Amino acid sequence: MSTEDLNKVSDTLLAEIENTGDLATLERIRIATIGKQGSITELFKTISKAPPEERKGLGKRLNHVKELCEKAILERKQCLELEELQKKIAAEKIDITLPIRPEPHGTIHPISQAIDEMLAIFCEMGFGVAEGPDIETDFNNFTALNIPPEHPARQEHDTFYLPQKDGGTRLVLRTHTSPVQIRTMLSQKPPIRIVVPGRTFRADYDSTHSPMFHQIEGLVIDKKTHMGHLKGCLIEFCRTFFGVDKLPARFRPSYFPFTEPSAEMDIGCSRAGGGLKIGAGADWLEILGCGMVHPQVLGHCEIDASRYQGFAFGLGIERAAMLKYGIPDLRTFFDSDIRWLRHYGFSALNLPNIAEGV
Ligand code: DAH
Repeated sequence: MSTEDLNKVSDTLLAEIENTGDLATLERIRIATIGKQGSITELFKTISKAPPEERKGLGKRLNHVKELCEKAILERKQCLELEELQKKIAAEKIDITLPIRPEPHGTIHPISQAIDEMLAIFCEMGFGVAEGPDIETDFNNFTALNIPPEHPARQEHDTFYLPQKDGGTRLVLRTHTSPVQIRTMLSQKPPIRIVVPGRTFRADYDSTHSPMFHQIEGLVIDKKTHMGHLKGCLIEFCRTFFGVDKLPARFRPSYFPFTEPSAEMDIGCSRAGGGLKIGAGADWLEILGCGMVHPQVLGHCEIDASRYQGFAFGLGIERAAMLKYGIPDLRTFFDSDIRWLRHYGFSALNLPNIAEGV
């Protein structure tokens, strides 16, 4: 092929490459020219047939044309790729002015919220958290707590019993969180300082009782723990939980089989105008039961009552949550009514709402 002809071929090819509008066509041109069986590649085969004195020159020219094509294809390819990318970016543009799609948000159940707040307060005071099973032995729930089989206190508990086993042992749905006192004292050596939140069960149902409810139990055992510690700890707890700095509190003598002496703690409130207001007024509201752990209970747990003593308390969580959050009926806690949960539930993004006291 003459130099002139070759130049013509090369010019046409370069113009064609330059005008290619998409990557697929460009690839087709590449294969048809400098590909294995492309037109330029084929021309190399004519070198051997040319007169010897022309072969070198022809080879050089062909190589030059091939390089020009390669360069042009590469440049066009980069150019087309960039165009394609820009088109894609333009098509993917996000309209940030669009309003977001609403997402349903769950809420924290007031019982969980109350437990979180209570644990935050007690943990700050140095208590650890213990738990126990819902199904208990008769021994842990009653006997070890000084409530032997014929004790009248058993009647008050409206116990759910599980079917009796062959050996005569009877399991119960725990009627209070107090059996975790026994479990802890049997498995740990004093000093002990725990709180126990959990589910409890009694056959009872009205606006202030549900067959399943929650309690938080406290137990402190050490060498010199006394009634003053009990009072200080519980007054501090109630003031922080209800967020009332000078909350009036009093301890009334009471009776529990597992404490001696026993007391019930009342906090000051006002019932003026039909509404209940914690912390103000001259009325009293019972809030929890407490006392010094009975030496016989320590004995049941193999703790030497001549060396150790301590206090315990038990508080109903529903009642405390009703008072703090203004919930009028206890049964609604367990109705699973989504409208109720939206109204009384707490945002998961808020930390426990405990007053500055902690
Ligand atoms: N277990 C008691 C109940 O359910 C509450 C209670 C009272 C717990 C006094 C205690 C306590 O630890 O010392 O009625």
